[in-house]
Amino acid sequence: MNIPLSGPDITSKEIEAVVSVLKTKYLSLGPKLTLFEEKFAQYIGVKYAVALNSGTSALHLCVRALGIHDGDEVITTPFSFVASTNCFLFERAKPVFVDIDPDTLNIDEDEIEAKITKKTKAILPVHVFGYPANMKKIRQIAKKHNLYIIEDACEAIGAEIGGRKAGTFSDCAVFAFYPNKQMTTGEGGMLVTNNRKIAETARSLRNQGRDSMAWLTHNRLGYNYRLSDINCALGLAQLDRISQLLSKREKIALKYKNALADIDEIILPPLTSKSVKRSWFVFVIRLKDDFSSKQRDELIELLKANGIGCNVYFPTIHLQPYLKEYGFKKGDFPITEAVSERTIALPFFNNLADNEINYVVKQLKVNILKVKK
Ligand SMILES: Cc1ncc(COP(=O)(O)O)c(C=O)c1O
Repeated sequence: MNIPLSGPDITSKEIEAVVSVLKTKYLSLGPKLTLFEEKFAQYIGVKYAVALNSGTSALHLCVRALGIHDGDEVITTPFSFVASTNCFLFERAKPVFVDIDPDTLNIDEDEIEAKITKKTKAILPVHVFGYPANMKKIRQIAKKHNLYIIEDACEAIGAEIGGRKAGTFSDCAVFAFYPNKQMTTGEGGMLVTNNRKIAETARSLRNQGRDSMAWLTHNRLGYNYRLSDINCALGLAQLDRISQLLSKREKIALKYKNALADIDEIILPPLTSKSVKRSWFVFVIRLKDDFSSKQRDELIELLKANGIGCNVYFPTIHLQPYLKEYGFKKGDFPITEAVSERTIALPFFNNLADNEINYVVKQLKVNILKVKK
């Protein structure tokens, strides 16, 4: 067998939607862009959505629109994809990491207040692997200390807290649409907000700092972060069947969960609870603490050798080589490090077949025993 780690769910509807744009004059800044933004805002339950060419650019524009810059501090998690930290490093703000909750793998909200200083400008929680962070507590802290919240919901489209969607708990939030995500535009991202000024600033910044129809007047230093109408048409077709996309993923997660339940050596990801609905981005298992990172790496190699796409997910951000100048070291965030050394992302995509799941589980059982001894 040869089972990839991830893959998009594309039907003839998506293909027709993309081709139909190619038959028009509007390949960029056209009607599909406006419609995608409107429908996305409606789906999330916010006033404004601004489509961008990646989740990273959407995060960057949150930082720019909020005026976070040189020397400001942003409190965030070291257990994430690097973009959630890079977005404010671009503006020379300083990362202040907080360790994670070992159950949800999200920022430990009880550790945030101790890290607030006079320079703190924002908290940037990430809904890791689609499991929502504790936004109630984070909002209380932000309100008390007058801080912005940027919500990284790149992995959490459709996740909910108390019936309210991820992406609605902050000054601005971000979604991402790379092909491994729950829905895709090929490449793409979305900034959502209820603040008109943030939306207007982000629209200007994505289009070279232009404010209005005056094409050659640039009111601020901007970027080309535009998302083409071709991508937006794909996004619209995916958004049209988002509930189907999410429920297919949930079904696969439940099948994995049942099939893996009797493996004592692993910890399974948390499921939806009464107050929290997770959106399934990836299926990440963890080896228990008596396994070393070397054993985890050996297991990944054995699975790969048997045709199973899998990977470490995530390596910790604070130990990335390019962050050396900040002086972070091993041991700074022990829970993040312990988790990161033992996680394995298994193949996870909508059309993963039952026999493929069974094969992954069988190989996992056999090879865990091999690395254990
Ligand atoms: C948590 C998180 N933040 C940000 C991003 C960045 O999104 P993109 O790859 O579209 O720039 C990703 C994408 O993988 C992500 O998982």
